[in-house]
Amino acid sequence: MMTKKRVLSGIRATGRLHLGNYLGAVRGMLALQSDPEYETFYMVADLHAITTPYDKKALKQNTLDVVMDYLAAGLDPEKSVVFIQSHVSEHTELANLFSTIISVARMSHLPTYKEKVKQFPKNVSMALLNYPVLMAADILAYKADAVPVGDDQLPHLEVTREIARKMNEKYGLDFPEPEQFRTSGFYVPSLTGEGKMAKTVEGSFINLSDDLQTIEKRLSKVPTDSGKGHIKKGHFLSHEAVAGGSQVKNIAGSGGVKTLMELTELFEGLDKRKEHEKQYTSTGIRYNKLKEKLAKAIYKELQPIQKKRAILEKDPSFVNRVLKEGRKKAQSVAKGTLAETKKAMGLV
Ligand code: TRP
Repeated sequence: MMTKKRVLSGIRATGRLHLGNYLGAVRGMLALQSDPEYETFYMVADLHAITTPYDKKALKQNTLDVVMDYLAAGLDPEKSVVFIQSHVSEHTELANLFSTIISVARMSHLPTYKEKVKQFPKNVSMALLNYPVLMAADILAYKADAVPVGDDQLPHLEVTREIARKMNEKYGLDFPEPEQFRTSGFYVPSLTGEGKMAKTVEGSFINLSDDLQTIEKRLSKVPTDSGKGHIKKGHFLSHEAVAGGSQVKNIAGSGGVKTLMELTELFEGLDKRKEHEKQYTSTGIRYNKLKEKLAKAIYKELQPIQKKRAILEKDPSFVNRVLKEGRKKAQSVAKGTLAETKKAMGLV
């Protein structure tokens, strides 16, 4: 039998998903789940959620909310192992072992760490510093080759590869060096026109649970311009036009118009976006119309997810079964990796 490549991904347990999570991670998870060459493991990172201040009472619901949004969006327990990170304590144990071969200096220079330190200066815990090591453990516990995540997670993947390399060199293990699996939505810009769509930035996101009116209202607030003029290179041209492919790392330029163009491409296709771009330099764009159409296109994709979610909410026993099964399958793999690692490191 051909051995399948493995995939692991996760989303922090911070409650219901928004469009950024969906496009940046979940769409990639779905693509790999339906590829018979891959064996897919998808978890909810509740242990990562507690590395910054959190509400103890809300954590459980936030965790289950991600699980239900996963299932509603199409993660299929028949095809993927769906589980909760803290249910598989091997992750934590592996993280502890991995933390012996990576330096404090390396961790403290990561941009993601520095951002959190700025955001929560009074809560700089050991768990926060160790965040990427735990993420490496999540991935390497399954010896995953591919990780569908957004670009913001690239520094963590770099750490994961470094840990894999060092463990292999030092202890003769065979961890793969995992790569990002990138889908079209690897970077979802904020509705404010600055930075990326993020749960922590009010006015930046569309929730998976939003109805058409809410989506329209959110889009109506996206800042625009006069709708006509020259397009500066990198301002809001499609990736294809800018660099001839989807491998553009750095999304140059910013602004609400760019956000609208990106979302148009993601939900209505590249041709539609090009049409808008042409209009911009000729007849001019009427943003009201554009936003109205875009809202409809987004809602069309979210509606079936919302319907499925409503059904799942009525059947908590199904969700429990999925998680129980997921835990069992995940654990059987993670146990093997942990045992191998302990042995290689000389633990009796
Ligand atoms: N750090 C990721 C994020 O904030 C979540 C995460 C935790 C993850 N463990 C992972 C993603 C393992 C991919 C693989 O989005």
